Amino acid sequence: MQSIPYQPGIIAPLPSFAKFISYQLVSEINLSQCLQQLALFVDGESTVLGIGLPLTQKLNKTLPGLTAMPEYQHQNLTLPSDQADLMLWLRAEGGSEAVGDLAHRAMRLRGLLANNFVEQSHCDAFNFNGRDLSGYEDGTENPEGDKALSAAFVCEGEPGLLGASYVAVQPWQHSLMEFKQRSEAEQDDTIGRRIRDNEEFDEAPESAHVKRAAQESFDPEAFMLRRSMPWVSGPRMGLVFVAFGKSFDAFNAIMQRMIGADDGIVDGLFTYSKPQGGGFYWCPPVANGKVDLQVVL
Ligand code: HEM
Repeated sequence: MQSIPYQPGIIAPLPSFAKFISYQLVSEINLSQCLQQLALFVDGESTVLGIGLPLTQKLNKTLPGLTAMPEYQHQNLTLPSDQADLMLWLRAEGGSEAVGDLAHRAMRLRGLLANNFVEQSHCDAFNFNGRDLSGYEDGTENPEGDKALSAAFVCEGEPGLLGASYVAVQPWQHSLMEFKQRSEAEQDDTIGRRIRDNEEFDEAPESAHVKRAAQESFDPEAFMLRRSMPWVSGPRMGLVFVAFGKSFDAFNAIMQRMIGADDGIVDGLFTYSKPQGGGFYWCPPVANGKVDLQVVL
């Protein structure tokens, strides 16, 4: 596959610690200058940038396939959306010093963006050995190599669009105590894999998450690159679900099936976890080690 100028943090393994921060535009004065400054700060590796539809509308730009995250709704299930203007995924490797590093970077960003944006949501996340806090391994069926590239990135097109990605960021909050009171077999039925050995098992009910989300069972196949990370805030906890795609089609198709809109069967995940909000963002490509914002500026 030709070399694609994507933000390298998207494809890199999960970092030890991270922040997912969304921002709301509060002033359009000197907005282009602010975004140019931001582009100098964002290397696409330690910081990944996503731009929301509301911001592109204020800039009078149209990006192919960029929508706001809808409120998914089916019967008595409604999933909230809190679509923002910008989303930054701050990533840091290492031990406790990485947490301090992230705090400093978030503070610098607050200063850099202060004239135009305020933080809308701020989520501290971490790598729990590649597991969700429920204990289940997360990311097993992620595509790898060229398959990951073709699932996650726009692989042809003009400079400025080639190498872009479309990310869904959706923080879920778990009722973990309730989940862990279930028998191990009931927990496995919810996910559709065994916690003991991470094996999928045929007898799992149709509501099992991995049966609902089986990427190859969609037409067209719904491959995505998941980079979800657990979060904790005091007694509250959950998973920031993060999925990069060449469009939002795979996410939309899977989410519709998860909420039961296809066949009335609701994903077992909803018995212990609920999304608290969510947004869709366009992740620009990179040029010369910085994000390339030529199509929005
Ligand atoms: C609380 C939220 C969620 C949790 C805890 C969770 C957890 C998991 C786990 C444990 C697996 C099995 C291992 C793996 O292949 O990664 C899995 C698979 C998967 N999940 Fe989720 N997930 C969540 C939300 C979502 C959402 C919102 C989507 C998409 C809309 C999604 C899409 C997928 C896909 C595509 C797979 C792989 C299915 C396959 O092809 O076998 N997940 N998830």
